[in-house]
Amino acid sequence: MMEVTFYDRERETKEIMDTLRMKPRLITFIYGPINSGKTELITHLTCELSDDYVVFYINLRTKFLASYDDFIESLFEMEMETDMTVRKGKETLAELISSATKITGIPITREFIDYVFKDNKPKNAFSYMLKLFEEVKKSGKQPVLILDELQKIGDVLVNGHLIYELFNFFIDLTKELHLCHVFAATSDSLFLERVYSEAMLKGRCRYLLVDDFDYETTAAFLKGYGFTDEGARVAWEYCGGKPVCLVELINCGNREEKAKEMFTFRIGELETQLKLVKELGDEILIGSKRCDVHYEKLVSALKMFVKREEIGMNEVDEVSKRYLVKENILFVDPLTAMMKPQSMLDLSAIREVMRDA
Ligand SMILES: Nc1ncnc2c1ncn2[C@@H]1O[C@H](COP(=O)(O)OP(=O)(O)OP(=O)(O)O)[C@@H](O)[C@H]1O
Ligand SMILES: [Mg+2]
Repeated sequence: MMEVTFYDRERETKEIMDTLRMKPRLITFIYGPINSGKTELITHLTCELSDDYVVFYINLRTKFLASYDDFIESLFEMEMETDMTVRKGKETLAELISSATKITGIPITREFIDYVFKDNKPKNAFSYMLKLFEEVKKSGKQPVLILDELQKIGDVLVNGHLIYELFNFFIDLTKELHLCHVFAATSDSLFLERVYSEAMLKGRCRYLLVDDFDYETTAAFLKGYGFTDEGARVAWEYCGGKPVCLVELINCGNREEKAKEMFTFRIGELETQLKLVKELGDEILIGSKRCDVHYEKLVSALKMFVKREEIGMNEVDEVSKRYLVKENILFVDPLTAMMKPQSMLDLSAIREVMRDA
């Protein structure tokens, strides 16, 4: 396996660093198609960041979130309970954060666990976090909170939706108190659409798109790993600029064959998915309403991509749009109101499948 090092993202890095240099003012939503490199960018920047910042990074991807208790467990570093440092008596908040600069989860002591779990109130957890961030600030450092895969929290109910309590907390940390930088990442563009139309967030957040690499970046990246001009062109034609696919190609013996294999595989997946809808039908939930997915409507939506790379998000009926996004075939950008395939690979596969549909 070849060691692939972090590449490019200069524009995105500059934007995040500029934000970090100013006092916390707005929530930053980092979004983009699946596997575009959002988590990689966050992890890379966190490692590069000076010790003047204390980063609390929480990835909700693997967490099971069905209740308030699940949410609390996903945020807090429960291992701290059995950690030697805690047993040796590091019981105050100042001691908890004294030497740490990059932390996965929110550290907590036994005493505070009882408090945050008390009465199932998100406010308890948030007031504890506020205290912790104030302690970081007192020590002369700047706290940074990063929540990855935020959409996982979207449907958790705690006297209403937890997400609204969380957004209020984010607004407190940034716009009101200027205490802590807040970044939230998601690859779920339907969730982002919800965020984008959320009245309570108007003027209180900004958006940063982390998209697949463009052609020039892809070619330059691949050439660093011995690709010829022709090799880079073939890779782009089949896989586009999705970093995860490019890394796979880099690590492959026969790169052209691998690229073609990925393409054929994606065509097969797409065909099967459409065949299932055609033969069995399908339905999706919009709010509390069950809506039928129609094969013919899906096909006419996908056919628009035969001649175009992007379409307006309202050119497609809402059910087909949501189905295709939910199935990770299309990606919606609420900021531009445009919709495109999740990757170049998807675009090529859609065009191939639509020729015979
Ligand atoms: N800038 C980069 N340089 C080199 N490799 C990268 C870069 N960005 C992403 N990758 C590769 O692509 C893989 C997938 O990236 P990552 O997990 O960050 O995507 P993501 O956008 O967070 O995905 P998801 O949508 O699933 O959250 C990484 O594990 C890494 O191998
Ligand atoms: Mg990610």
